[in-house]
Amino acid sequence: MAVHKKLLAAIVLATIIIVTAPRPSCQETIQVINQLSSNILIVHCASDDDDLDAHAVAINATCAWSFRPIHIGGATLFWCRLAVEDKRLSFVAYDQARRLASNYPDWLVRDDGLHGQRGTFREFIKTWNRI
Ligand SMILES: *[C@@H]1O[C@H](CO)[C@@H](O)[C@H](O)[C@H]1NC(C)=O
Repeated sequence: MAVHKKLLAAIVLATIIIVTAPRPSCQETIQVINQLSSNILIVHCASDDDDLDAHAVAINATCAWSFRPIHIGGATLFWCRLAVEDKRLSFVAYDQARRLASNYPDWLVRDDGLHGQRGTFREFIKTWNRI
């Protein structure tokens, strides 16, 4: 009986681990969306392997890219630098090592700063720095 209970507990635990472990899909897509009221946004994103260079993104336009997360020997991490006039903002756009809850596929850039969005859920992330 005790052996059965341990076996059952092990199966339940293994199931929980399999269900809750991050499962990277073949490709991830990240979008940075310019929702500023009156400015072109400069977006410069990069990972250790890919420098996507700086791009000028018009109002209501999107800078998007897709990539395959690393599966062996490391974790993919993309960071971005945003610039508009005298304002700057840096953030981690994708961190494979973190739980999905802190990664957003959509990043909204607004007058008040950066917001992360997944589906209908949106979270304010940070304000602009002035230089
Ligand atoms: C951007 O989108 C918003 C919301 O749809 C709209 O109110 C605004 O006029 C748009 N701005 C430009 C420059 O297209």
